[in-house]
Amino acid sequence: TRVRAILEAPDETIVGSEVVVKGWVRTKRGQKTFTFLEVNDGSSLKGLQVVAGAELPSYGEVDRVSTGASVAVRGVIQESPGQGQRFELKASEISVLGECPGDYPLQKKRHSLEFLRGMAHLRPRTNTIGAVARVRSALAFATHQFFQGEGFQYLQTPLITASDCEGAGEMFRVTTLPPASPPTDDAGAVDFAKDFFGRPAYLTVSGQLSAETHACALGDVYTFGPTFRAENSQTTRHLAEFNMIEPEMAFADLIDDMDNAEAFVKHVVSHVLQNCRSDLDFFAGFYDKGLFDKLQRLVDQPFARIEYTAAVKLLQEEIAMDPSQWQFPDVSFGTDLQTEHERWLAEKKFNTATFVYNYPRTIKAFYMRDNEDGATVAAMDLLVPGVGELIGGSQREERLGVLEAKLREFGLDPKDYWWYLDLRKYGSVPHAGYGLGFERLVCYVTGIDNIREAIAFPRYPGSAEF
Ligand code: 4AD
Ligand code: MG
Repeated sequence: TRVRAILEAPDETIVGSEVVVKGWVRTKRGQKTFTFLEVNDGSSLKGLQVVAGAELPSYGEVDRVSTGASVAVRGVIQESPGQGQRFELKASEISVLGECPGDYPLQKKRHSLEFLRGMAHLRPRTNTIGAVARVRSALAFATHQFFQGEGFQYLQTPLITASDCEGAGEMFRVTTLPPASPPTDDAGAVDFAKDFFGRPAYLTVSGQLSAETHACALGDVYTFGPTFRAENSQTTRHLAEFNMIEPEMAFADLIDDMDNAEAFVKHVVSHVLQNCRSDLDFFAGFYDKGLFDKLQRLVDQPFARIEYTAAVKLLQEEIAMDPSQWQFPDVSFGTDLQTEHERWLAEKKFNTATFVYNYPRTIKAFYMRDNEDGATVAAMDLLVPGVGELIGGSQREERLGVLEAKLREFGLDPKDYWWYLDLRKYGSVPHAGYGLGFERLVCYVTGIDNIREAIAFPRYPGSAEF
């Protein structure tokens, strides 16, 4: 039986049932005639209180128990006379599965998150990282639930690719170990560019271009998988390997795109509010006092929507009042908004999730649809308090001639995009999509500050152990 099922039992009828609980001991408190163990099995933040009486035939096992040991306990559930829990387990049999020596790094005290990063193999046993993992799993479930419920098809796009979707040059090159007999070019020189795939190949930065092929065949699709960026940024919001959810919708424009993103984010947040209550209580207590307010407001209120040009005007007015408060005070049309700008909009100005849309075409990717004004594209970013950019998306350029010209303008060779252009040549349709950074969503929902705690095994410059 899982501990969560006992702790969250709907009523008292569970009292008297015999169960076996298996987990890891968090604390042990000995009295003369009995011992209390807190057994945590990872199903919930709190462990189950186990009472082992000295009369037990297997009471000798208790001597082998210390913090971190794994145990199996058979017993009967009873109402707990003590504070802090409704039910406890009166043990009838206890066995130690794995002892835990005294040098166990996770002794009963608060460890810094930096320290725990160096213990990525053990940190899921801590309150914070365990709670993150449970919330993360619930968010993943709710993601599939939302899109499947809306009739989207789930699609896996390749991790190894030849194209740089975002055109930012932040790709990891994929090669084999040096071959025994390296390929050579016509002159006999070693040619490492012509290795396994016969062309340079990279880890994908986004599944979007592949997803478009299926949106233009199946209708609405979504991806949910790893993406990679070789950004040399030691920030609290960037990972070299992160997970992205990328819906792509046929017969959709930028408004449909924002509407879908808003409904999606609201769905996953309300799912977590309903299903991860005790974990969220923990995060509200230790990481973000205003967490419930923030999440409830997100679910209840419409998101703010503002055009980039108007957002720039608001920022200029605000900055003019005290430029010294800003790290990047120069903002004008064409400025790529910095995190401090994004967070001011979402936190100070609108105090809720905020779409900024219709960005200057020069600062956005080649595939975004040109607006009639000739200066902007049908792009949108969703900014949320505490995190900044959570989503980036756009309506895609579906006009063959316009897209070809734009590729050239951006210094890209239309020949490399022949299959992408074919989607515009053969039965082109207006379509739109977006990418949501899953780990940033985890940060937002839990209130933890650093994205390195939002993923089990964070990858960032200088870190690929575990
Ligand atoms: O804004 P981005 O670069 O958009 C795209 O990749 C589009 N192709 C998506 C699409 O339209 N299908 O990235 C999307 C989101 C960002 O808003 C951010 O949340 C997250 O991905 N993201 C990162 N998360 C963690 N670490 C990084 N290095 C990230 N880079 C982007
Ligand atoms: Mg972006």
